[in-house]
Amino acid sequence: MRLPPYPRALEEWWWEQATSKWPDWGKEKLLNSIRREVVEQSDRFNKTRSFEPSSYGSRDLSILSYGNFFFPRTWQATQYGLAEAYGLRNWRVPTKGPLRILDLGSGSGAGGLSVIHLLRALGIPNPIMLEAFDYSGKSLATMKNVHQACPALWPKSSIKTRRQDLRDAWPELKPSSFDLVLLGFSLNELSEGDSPANHLDWLMGVARYLKPSGVLLILEPADSRTCSKLQQKSSALTSEKPALHQHAPYFNGLPCPFINGKAKYYSHEVRKIIPTGVVDKINAPLHLETRTVKFGLSILGKRKADPVPGGAGVCRLVSPVKKTKGTLSFVGIGADGKEYRYEFQRRDLQREEKNQLMALERGDVIRLPESLQPMEEDRMRLSSTQGMEFLFVPRVSGEIAA
Ligand SMILES: C[S@@+](CC[C@H](N)C(=O)[O-])C[C@H]1O[C@@H](n2cnc3c(N)ncnc32)[C@H](O)[C@@H]1O
Repeated sequence: MRLPPYPRALEEWWWEQATSKWPDWGKEKLLNSIRREVVEQSDRFNKTRSFEPSSYGSRDLSILSYGNFFFPRTWQATQYGLAEAYGLRNWRVPTKGPLRILDLGSGSGAGGLSVIHLLRALGIPNPIMLEAFDYSGKSLATMKNVHQACPALWPKSSIKTRRQDLRDAWPELKPSSFDLVLLGFSLNELSEGDSPANHLDWLMGVARYLKPSGVLLILEPADSRTCSKLQQKSSALTSEKPALHQHAPYFNGLPCPFINGKAKYYSHEVRKIIPTGVVDKINAPLHLETRTVKFGLSILGKRKADPVPGGAGVCRLVSPVKKTKGTLSFVGIGADGKEYRYEFQRRDLQREEKNQLMALERGDVIRLPESLQPMEEDRMRLSSTQGMEFLFVPRVSGEIAA
């Protein structure tokens, strides 16, 4: 599956906002100010964890630094998540009438707007209505501005914003009215310091707004603590009454197998992205990782996940592909929710097959070829990639696909 590249019009819009805000600053002064803010925003997540409306949303420099540096990566991460809901998990969009999205903790719209853009790239013709909630009024105003400034990126779409602290009671929305509820990198912030039981109640409350065919798409930062919490919550929600059903990251409604004990891996995606020219300039002295984006993912729905037969024969990669002298191998979670190590003997493989395997990414979903042979209960050996099917191997346009 091909994802559209990050639009140049957005890169230009954000840079233009920054240069016109401080017209007297030279380029280096502006870049240096943005760099300091980027470092502060990274630290806020990793170290201080103080999330108040003032965190990003109240200062122009924070909003413009987010827009020029973090917005493109969040945009691309969210597109990977939506691509999975649509391309693999059979998320059904309405056949006619508007498609309705609720974006909770929308910020300046990297997630919500990228969803609209991708839906259009996928050829979905319905009018799209997005409701965005955030406690930062400035972020919401920015989202409206960018939506208005680049209409060609999201034709036939409308945006309604509401300034709202999501920890407080909200004015009632119509139940069962949204096709997609998006929590893009916001759940960890708004649940920081609150009890797990409250998070579950809150998430169940949010799920009431989903149509029977709708999905809740949750993306979170990729540190192990946040990702494990996300998978624990997702699993707990499947036993609530009425329950939600887990559609991703794994199969057949099964939970993440890593949440029940010590494991070498934890569930998170690592995907290639293409940094913008502005990101490269900001990053030149910072040396932050800008060519991959890492994130936690959960997709939940009111309907049951579509059945995926195949046991160990279908898997989602949860490790990079490892090359040793004799083998190419990776770890995957099978359709039965169990962890397997898959080993290909290099001596059996053609060069093209090796390239095909080395191009796989964590998060890809494949059907293994028939040469699959169990060596041990959790170890599979393969001699060829012939017959391997790529069930979900999304790549951003501009790269070579697997
Ligand atoms: C990391 S940003 C992500 C923004 C956006 N979803 C994106 O993907 O770019 C988290 C957002 O959640 C918002 N947020 C955090 N806690 C909130 C709360 N209690 N109520 C409303 N919004 C909140 C912040 O203002 C911020 O815009």
